[in-house]
Amino acid sequence: MTPADLYLHNAEQVVTCASGAPRRGQDMASVQEFEHGSVAVRDGRIVAVGPSHALEGKFKADRTIDCRGRSLCPGFVDAHTHTVFGGDRAAEFEMRIRGASYLEIMAEGGGIVNTVKHTRAVSEDELVTSAAGRLDEMLALGATTVEIKTGYGLNVDDELKMLRVIDALDRVHPCDIVPTFLGAHAVPPEFEGDAEAYTRSVIGEILPEVTDWYGSSRFADRGVPMFIDVFCEDHAFDLDQSRRVLEAGIASGLRAKMHVDQFNDSGGVAMALELGASSVDHLDVTDREGIEMIAGSDTAAVLLPAVNFNLGMAEFADGRAMMDAGAVVALATDLNPGSAPCPSMPAVMAIACRYQRFTPAEALNASTINAAFAIGQGDVTGSIEVGKRADILILKEGDYRHIPYFFGGNPVLTVIKNGQVLNP
Ligand code: NIG
Ligand code: FE
Repeated sequence: MTPADLYLHNAEQVVTCASGAPRRGQDMASVQEFEHGSVAVRDGRIVAVGPSHALEGKFKADRTIDCRGRSLCPGFVDAHTHTVFGGDRAAEFEMRIRGASYLEIMAEGGGIVNTVKHTRAVSEDELVTSAAGRLDEMLALGATTVEIKTGYGLNVDDELKMLRVIDALDRVHPCDIVPTFLGAHAVPPEFEGDAEAYTRSVIGEILPEVTDWYGSSRFADRGVPMFIDVFCEDHAFDLDQSRRVLEAGIASGLRAKMHVDQFNDSGGVAMALELGASSVDHLDVTDREGIEMIAGSDTAAVLLPAVNFNLGMAEFADGRAMMDAGAVVALATDLNPGSAPCPSMPAVMAIACRYQRFTPAEALNASTINAAFAIGQGDVTGSIEVGKRADILILKEGDYRHIPYFFGGNPVLTVIKNGQVLNP
């Protein structure tokens, strides 16, 4: 018998999402499942997965969990979040209900800049504590790997402060974190009305400090990439400014991604693809031509339907058309205090199934294997495969389709992170 730390057996389904590459088209419609499956874990990694009858009697485990009546799936990967921030924007939530739009509030100095003021004012320790609380909730709802952006500091000191918070979270929290520099998120008050001057500051002053920081960080040490992101939009950064920021980041060794086509089509998708971006995110107003371009590339389309839901919008990114065209489609919460105060990947999957016509299998692939590839983690997590990190969810129900079907609650019974059973 082979020794193991943990043996999960007799699950009604083991949904693996296994794939050596991001899933597209028809491949997104299947999750690859074993009826009556088992998984063995050793040293934080998956050492076996298969039908229960094939694995039974082969492992001598320190701990065995009987998963009868339950199903297993990979831990979710939340590929786009703004988890670190000070303050809240409940007042803007109410303003929007009364009729103000997100862009109007932003143009009047509210929105992202409102959160920048609060984030600058609170201490590093407070930011760690508040963000760790949010991560606790995200983890309980199944997210085991989370991308986190800066973008509420918007000067050298406060962007570095946010990065130190992100690093601290990676140390203290069970979730694995992937960092993104989003200096070009909004034009800060000191540069009001002069996006051009602030763009030069992002490239000339903030980025060099950020890349220095990354170079000597634990992230670089462990081969975790750092991304550079831009909010390409009216009242934020135009196409040319976005290009210069991304090109400077790429030249410094960061990988590109972009907030694009959220409200207005600026031509940013073609530019991002030309630069070889890892992902293009939002895509609410992307037209047919843009969808075809994404489908013909290796760049992931990261859709964020909790934003549309929270902004009370009737229109959503056309995820159905993107999947049918063969694009690599992923889902994420976009957790942030303005457009998406939502820690729940299951809620995002539920919205995607209803408003973007994802099937449960497509939503699960988009939230696991494809999301992992979208943030450069497809080789280490995002599926239940031998050799990968043991990031596994025991679901309350024996049928994984309950994740988006029975919405508004928590479908996760137990989270296993790096082989550790977190909520026994
Ligand atoms: O992805 N669109 C730009 N950035 C965020 C919102 C951040 C905020 O409102 O604080 C987004 O929606
Ligand atoms: Fe965002």
